[in-house]
Amino acid sequence: MAETTEATRPRGFRSAELGWPELHRIPHPPRRVPLIGDVVGANVRSPLQDSMRFGRQLGPIFRRRAFRNEIVFVWGAELAAELADESRFAKHVGLGVANLRPVAGDGLFTAYNHEPNWQLAHDVLAPGFSREAMEGYHPMMLDVTGRLTDHWDREEAAGRAVDVPGDMTKLTLETIARTGFGHDFASFERSRPHPFVDAMVGTLTYAQRLNVVPVPLAPLLLRGASRRNAADTAHLNRTVDAVVASRRAGGGEGDLLDRMLETAHPSTGERLTPENIRRQVITFLIAGHETTSGALSFALHYLSRHPEAAARARAEVEAVWGGTERPGYEQVAKLRYVRRVLDESLRLWPTAPAFAREARQDTVLGGVHPMRRGAWALVLTALLHRDPQVWGADAEEFDPDRFDAKAVRARPAHTFKPFGTGARACIGRQFALHEATLVLGLLLRRYDLRPDPGYRLRVSERLTLMPEGLRLHLDRRPPVRPGHEAGLAHATD
Ligand code: HEM
Repeated sequence: MAETTEATRPRGFRSAELGWPELHRIPHPPRRVPLIGDVVGANVRSPLQDSMRFGRQLGPIFRRRAFRNEIVFVWGAELAAELADESRFAKHVGLGVANLRPVAGDGLFTAYNHEPNWQLAHDVLAPGFSREAMEGYHPMMLDVTGRLTDHWDREEAAGRAVDVPGDMTKLTLETIARTGFGHDFASFERSRPHPFVDAMVGTLTYAQRLNVVPVPLAPLLLRGASRRNAADTAHLNRTVDAVVASRRAGGGEGDLLDRMLETAHPSTGERLTPENIRRQVITFLIAGHETTSGALSFALHYLSRHPEAAARARAEVEAVWGGTERPGYEQVAKLRYVRRVLDESLRLWPTAPAFAREARQDTVLGGVHPMRRGAWALVLTALLHRDPQVWGADAEEFDPDRFDAKAVRARPAHTFKPFGTGARACIGRQFALHEATLVLGLLLRRYDLRPDPGYRLRVSERLTLMPEGLRLHLDRRPPVRPGHEAGLAHATD
């Protein structure tokens, strides 16, 4: 498929300016350089963290310009809540999301709102995330976690620290590949990441670079990268075509791929085309593992740094699961505190750290900023989740109790948005939360986590976020005695 160019990009991409008649009222960083824009203090490798820094200085709505691209960012809770109003705003496919179109086409994540394949695929695939479907995935999730713990047991016995983001990526890739597509990438049998992961990281990194490189200079500056991107895209296509071909030859397993291949739309009878199926498989393999891997990695980082939270979470797991080797589907949602740890990690580092919203009609944001139909803003979730007016003066601190039921009820709506919002919010939310809660429970019960005292959290960005270079030391814990769960049941709240 052809690469995205200025001509093929949606109109809104070039500059938000077009649709914001009073853009001058929105603050921007002080040292703007003519023609180039707000490049002072900006790093192409960390656009999100740069934006968080600028946001803290400039307030709840601000803008940044790189060459001709001007982007309006919103992170204040009140403005973000307005942008979540589906009657006035919708998903905007721009920036990194639009840059992924050459890879993911009109797949669910990258489809424009008006493309008929979005509704078709949404309706056909949504039952793949029902409670019934999730129960079917649960045993496979347990099996994949068993492969991780086999690997971690060996590392622990050898006294080696484990590579957390690397191993979480193996785990989550295997989980979506098996549950969704009956495929085994054999990630744990490899010393290096699977080539699919390398190709995926390549395309995500390239899509992010395109955000910050001026379009006219892109062919020059990114010539080598663009060649690699074409090779990466070809690799993703080949991998997916092989998975689909083997399913067509081998017959059904009742999973997402079967739904894509066999299921007709319940009311129109339409089916997904082979080209669209390819796009959906790539979409699910990427969207279904990278963000969950980051979420698990950040949670493990925080648990290793907060022994009191780890002890409380572990007590809950032992109380609810006892020594049961294979906890049942129902037993996962009972881990309320573990889930709070996960939510709190996603608050501080939402691994898909922003989403874009566009005006459905001419409107005025916050009663102050007129927007024309189609004008858009980027909601900076990572900073929305740290708005001191909502989260308090200690918003930067890790505290899972922010997610106890009473505290959640007391907060205004639309202040916690790690899975996006509205019709285009994450279809895999329950899948990710079930998987991550299950895995954290199993790991906490099996290991004590020891951080490397010299490690300082560094966050790497390639559209999604990851704690860079995070390694943890493990100590195997004695097994919980069978029947222990009943005696400990009072330890949870
Ligand atoms: C912690 C894990 C995850 C996070 C933080 C996350 C976050 C998000 C966000 C923020 C969006 C909306 C993006 C936008 O508005 O542009 C989204 C959409 C999506 N996610 Fe996730 N996601 C996660 C896990 C998953 C999983 C496990 C799957 C699949 C199994 C998945 C599949 C998708 C798809 C297909 C969409 C597009 C939905 C649509 O537009 O109809 N995600 N996700």
